[in-house]
Amino acid sequence: METAVVKVGLIGAGTVGSSLAQLLLDANRVDMLIDAAGARLELVTVAVRDQSKPRAGIPSELLSDDAAFVAGHAPIDVLVEVMGGVEETRGLIEAALRRGVTVVTANKALMAAAGTELVQLAYANGADLYYEGAVAGGIPILRALRTSMAGERINRVMGIVNGTTNFILSKMTSEGSDYADVLAEAQALGYAEADPTADVEGFDAAAKVTILASLAFGTPLEGEVIFREGITKIRSIDVAYARHHGYVIKLLGIAERVGDHAISRRVHVAMLPEEHPLASVHGAFNAVFVEGAFSGPLMWMGQGAGGNPTAAAVLGDVVVAARNRVTGRCDAPLSVDETLQNYPMGELQTEFYLTVDVLDRPGVLALVTGVFGEHAVSIRSMEQSGFGDEARLTFITHLAFESDIAATIEDLEQLDVVDSVGACIRIVGEE
Ligand code: NAP
Ligand code: HSE
Repeated sequence: METAVVKVGLIGAGTVGSSLAQLLLDANRVDMLIDAAGARLELVTVAVRDQSKPRAGIPSELLSDDAAFVAGHAPIDVLVEVMGGVEETRGLIEAALRRGVTVVTANKALMAAAGTELVQLAYANGADLYYEGAVAGGIPILRALRTSMAGERINRVMGIVNGTTNFILSKMTSEGSDYADVLAEAQALGYAEADPTADVEGFDAAAKVTILASLAFGTPLEGEVIFREGITKIRSIDVAYARHHGYVIKLLGIAERVGDHAISRRVHVAMLPEEHPLASVHGAFNAVFVEGAFSGPLMWMGQGAGGNPTAAAVLGDVVVAARNRVTGRCDAPLSVDETLQNYPMGELQTEFYLTVDVLDRPGVLALVTGVFGEHAVSIRSMEQSGFGDEARLTFITHLAFESDIAATIEDLEQLDVVDSVGACIRIVGEE
């Protein structure tokens, strides 16, 4: 029987796209891919912004600078979008889907903003839309949630889903370095962008958590704003305190059930006990920790960024897409659970680490702890370091409501004896 051919168009040949092109054009992989996909995958066109740039390994006759033509008109079965961006890219993907072309993307920003509508558009046109590369690079977590855990009641998904911030926090922990120095190193190594805002302020992780939650719980992908906090306020002194007390500081993305009808989705820095499985995930690695009602805790770990790991995940999607093209089927979209509410952040209860810089004078401690008491925040432990004008009080609280901690910080900042309130870090993973 003649081998079917699935024609692939690629938009973007940067970090991820050039690695994917290399995989698709590798003569040594052809037979393996035919076995896996049930078809020969033929890369027929590669759209880039600047066609004159040298592209190692990509024949020049495949190159185009007309992404709109590739998406809307080129004779392809599968479009791979790895150019990034939201508005323009959305138009390209919609054009491909409307003509029944399956789309594979690694674009977390677009999927978090409009994934629900795009997946429905794909299905309405007999096509698929896959996005494994969008979350945690090479870790195949989306398909695991969607297929292997399809019958499981997932209670919580918690992950280190941003490599840049994990690299920075790991270096601050292992070497005691300052945030600004490690950020500069991360930029020099190419982990962090010249403008690192999306990584260090948690936007990248928030998009990934939104996507993970949609697969774990059925929440929509419609650009909802979730609670997000980055790592920019973390100082080496916080990291040292955490280490000394058996914790590790991580930027976590968390999506969890609260009761039967609410989901809390959030990104924030957390102190994790050093024996927690996520605490030992260092450097630019990512990991996703899932708690299922029957499965118990599970964890996936791997390279969460970079051309090769992400291209491996994207290629897996292309293979599944090709199989469906050959058999003429497509996947039904995941249903959105309309009954689920967003659990309000203020009602969440957590233990907190909080530092307060104060004047070291008689009566100050009573004033400061009085503010905690006024807001029903119970103190588990307190330490003082420094003295004179440079005294710092470090508190660990018992479980407290987010709203009460916010009110406590607001009132502390009004006290004359308080110079500033430093980091406020949630303690996670002890339950
Ligand atoms: P990148 O290195 O900046 O590459 C972007 C590519 O898209 C370039 O080849 C660029 O062309 C091309 N491009 C940009 N605008 C275009 C346009 N209007 N028409 C045609 N081509 C255009 O980006 P990347 O790091 O590979 O990321 C791509 C996507 O994958 C993003 O959505 C990103 O979030 C996602 N992702 C990346 C990683 C990672 O580790 N990098 C991991 C997971 C997911 P030129 O080469 O001519 O400039
Ligand atoms: N900038 C991301 C990270 C990589 O540092 O994890 C792409 O998801």
